[in-house]
Amino acid sequence: MRSYDKAHLLITGGAGYIGSHACIEFLNAGYDIVVIDNLCNSSQESLNRVQKITNKSLKFVYGDICDVKILKKIFSEYNFEAVIHFAGLKAVGQSVNKPIEYFNNNIIGTIHLLQVMQESNVKKIVFSSSATVYGKPEKLPIKETFPRSATNPYGRTKLIIEDMLKDICVDKLWHVALLRYFNPVGAHSSGLIGEDPRDIPNNLLPYVSQVALGKLKRLSVYGNDYPTIDGTGVRDYIHVVDLVKAHVKALEYLNAGNAGIHAWNLGVGKGYSVLQVVDAFERLNKIKVPYEITARRKGDVAECYADPTKANNELIWQTEKTLEDMMVDSWRWQVNNPTGYS
Ligand code: NAD
Ligand code: WQD
Repeated sequence: MRSYDKAHLLITGGAGYIGSHACIEFLNAGYDIVVIDNLCNSSQESLNRVQKITNKSLKFVYGDICDVKILKKIFSEYNFEAVIHFAGLKAVGQSVNKPIEYFNNNIIGTIHLLQVMQESNVKKIVFSSSATVYGKPEKLPIKETFPRSATNPYGRTKLIIEDMLKDICVDKLWHVALLRYFNPVGAHSSGLIGEDPRDIPNNLLPYVSQVALGKLKRLSVYGNDYPTIDGTGVRDYIHVVDLVKAHVKALEYLNAGNAGIHAWNLGVGKGYSVLQVVDAFERLNKIKVPYEITARRKGDVAECYADPTKANNELIWQTEKTLEDMMVDSWRWQVNNPTGYS
């Protein structure tokens, strides 16, 4: 006998940066949700704030997706209609030094999740993939049909999980969405939730914000000799709120009876250079971001941006936020929460 017969969504990694923003969108769209998170890179406080923002409640299970027992327990308690799967380790550099940890957490964790989903006859999943699956793209903008490859162990976990999800679709009852994120940035406009890196940030926007705050001395701009507009790397930055809205659309697409596997690029379709980002951040927030030009970072590509046409057409989804919104919202979150959630 189930404790809850009403249909719920299971959101793995829902306490994290993107997951917490997704919880808001799913709650506002009327879904009942259960979050499972082991808090290895997040804080439960994010979920308290999600509930404050939405004035709706969610259920939280402190647990690891590598733990089959806990998965079986929650799948027996709840009637899940689908899983939105964010849980995973995501630091590219760390994955090079700890590949087995990444394979274990991301791949084995997903295998356990899929196994329990199958046993419970829950065959709908929206998976957080990444533009990293395109490796070093030969052409731009990047389309979903481009060849895929891995340039680091983190990227390999995404490739392998994508392939596993494709293979399970031999069973025609599976409905799978692969959402390939470009560079998610920004924060909820309330300033209550945002990205809260545990260590020194790797990604550009959290680093810029912490330099502006004075927590870090200066930004290292990794190379100004790329064949780009000003020599610095160009990326497709997408506001996290636009990004998570596409998850609701992707679930609706699967719910409309579209079985099998579907991949969508989630990006704006336009690239900005590192210096353009720094300039916009300084100008809009009226704050200085000291920086120096340093050597290129190993593994970086000059330019990367999406062709989001497939998502625009099939999901009936468009990004709405501007670069300005991304800069202002990132800073609001950082200023209001100088030590993150702690
Ligand atoms: P995040 O670290 O903020 O969120 C991941 C969440 O998963 C965290 O709350 C963490 O505690 C949890 N988690 C990790 N392993 C777990 C496990 N074994 N069991 C239970 N919970 C676990 O990262 P994010 O930026 O919100 O990323 C979410 C997803 O999106 C990840 O899969 C990531 O690889 C993917 N992604 C992120 C980006 C990005 O730039 N942020 C880009 C592309 C793809
Ligand atoms: C953006 C630009 C840097 C930091 C990574 C992952 C990718 C995906 C998104 C998960 C680049 C430059 C950065 C700094 C800098 N994550 N930069 N100084 O590398 O495009 O993508 O996050 O799936 O897989 O690889 O993002 O934010 O690290 O870098 O000059 O201190 O900023 O060189 O041009 P990236 P990023």
